[in-house]
Amino acid sequence: MKYDATNRLFDCEPTMTDTQVLEFCRDGYLMLKGVVPQEINQRTCDYLEGRIPANPSYIPKGLNEQDLERIRNSHEPSTIMLEDWYIENVLLNPELCGVLRSLLGKQVGLPVLVSSHRVECPTEAQGWHHDADHIFGPEVNFVEVFYFPQDTPVELGPTEMVPGSHIRPTHGDPSESGVPAEGPAGSFGIHLQSILHRRGASTADGIRHMLKYNYWRTEAPVRDWIVEPDFDFQDAYYGGHGTARYNAHIFYWLCGKGDQYRIIGGQGWPWKTENQIGPSYGFGKSDGYLPNWRRDNSDDYSSD
Ligand SMILES: [Fe+2]
Repeated sequence: MKYDATNRLFDCEPTMTDTQVLEFCRDGYLMLKGVVPQEINQRTCDYLEGRIPANPSYIPKGLNEQDLERIRNSHEPSTIMLEDWYIENVLLNPELCGVLRSLLGKQVGLPVLVSSHRVECPTEAQGWHHDADHIFGPEVNFVEVFYFPQDTPVELGPTEMVPGSHIRPTHGDPSESGVPAEGPAGSFGIHLQSILHRRGASTADGIRHMLKYNYWRTEAPVRDWIVEPDFDFQDAYYGGHGTARYNAHIFYWLCGKGDQYRIIGGQGWPWKTENQIGPSYGFGKSDGYLPNWRRDNSDDYSSD
């Protein structure tokens, strides 16, 4: 792990394979469960509940001690990212960083804003939503990470997500549940910010803490995660009708090949089914169409 404290960047070895990166492109999220030491999870709760004093490693330019106090006590307690123990064990958690390095390239930019999603349980489920200012598109210029510092079983209302809902506007049915991001203390969720999600309903008593923030890409995308020698771009599974074309576009963008991506529609690549007797037509075409991320025409193809 190389950490540049001056510029707030890190670099490390990527840990994801082609197959895992493509799975992330299809689902729009992944989970790392119980990867932060318990002592740090406890210290995070103590910090958020004001039981331990602040000990910032530095005061950022333009801020003073009063500002730090105000920020700590707000719903955006970003000052926790100035604590050395939080930087070392949570922001730069090795498992998390291996994933982020895979998805965001070298020199990953650390978050600048923390959002605290503290909830007194029990409470109702939130409405399904895509977060403010989301973009539907092939670019992965940042990913959103959430961190549960206490055991967060279903009874404590973890975030629920709808796999594959990161590519277009979706209106979730309040009565339908998604996949709960439940897990022991020290679990992370990593997702594309555009995914449909909500805070799940909780039935237990107690405080649920959750911290949420974004890590940022600083270098152009390139396929420099763990390359599988036998990974086959033509035969890979990108998704079904109406989704494969979008998921494949994300994957190609991450590979640094977004500008070479073209599709011919119908049963052509990147769509396929297990009952074919040969590969899908249309792979490797240099002319053709792009998926229409803006979805402002009837067939959702764009020739741009
Ligand atoms: Fe949200």
